[in-house]
Amino acid sequence: MLVPHEDLERLISSRRTSKPSWFNDQEPDHATVRNAIDVARKAPNHHRTEPARFYLLDKSRIREVGRLFGEIVAGDSPDEFLSERAVKKTEEWGSSPGLIVVTCFTDHSSALVASKPAVIEEDYSTCACICQNLLLLLHNLDIATKWSTGPVWKHPDFRKVVGIPNAPPDERVIALIFYGHTEKIAPSPTYSPLEEKLSDHPNPS
Ligand SMILES: Cc1cc2nc3c(=O)[nH]c(=O)nc-3n(C[C@H](O)[C@H](O)[C@H](O)COP(=O)(O)O)c2cc1C
Repeated sequence: MLVPHEDLERLISSRRTSKPSWFNDQEPDHATVRNAIDVARKAPNHHRTEPARFYLLDKSRIREVGRLFGEIVAGDSPDEFLSERAVKKTEEWGSSPGLIVVTCFTDHSSALVASKPAVIEEDYSTCACICQNLLLLLHNLDIATKWSTGPVWKHPDFRKVVGIPNAPPDERVIALIFYGHTEKIAPSPTYSPLEEKLSDHPNPS
């Protein structure tokens, strides 16, 4: 056995989503996060397309992403509730010590997609596996995370701020992974009994 089974189970079961507002000022080590990204890439990948792209943002870009999300949340109408929420989100996102934007690149005009359209979904699946690998690797380093799909990517300036070169649908945002250190741990969600989700037919012994 490569890793003690109980350790791996504990790692998977104890990972929790943390709000960026819980992160303290301690900055996670850049090289450590970079290495985690490198390892996380080693996920199953049909056709070996290596679809994931990573944008590891510095503080000023994180602030900008927070500002853009605030604008998306506020929208065009002068709604007081939305304005307050926008201010909160701008601050919460913008002050996160770390943010990785993960995108999925699939060239929709490629010969591969023409012959196997399922590659678009399969590339997404690979990127989702990579994100989970990354959350687990960071969790094991005491770096808390939040995977968000808050629609900041709708902002016309988002791609420029992050440095994403390709337009959708070829390159689409899969995850904003906020990360940082925190003492706070969210309670575990409750899961339905396995019997409700699993159909199995054990062989007679
Ligand atoms: C694809 C995906 C998108 C998510 N987007 C959001 C989000 O936009 N906002 C949010 O608060 N949490 C988001 N989450 C985190 C989930 O809400 C979280 O995983 C769930 O509440 C279970 O908590 P746990 O991660 O601690 O097990 C997302 C998770 C996934 C996998």
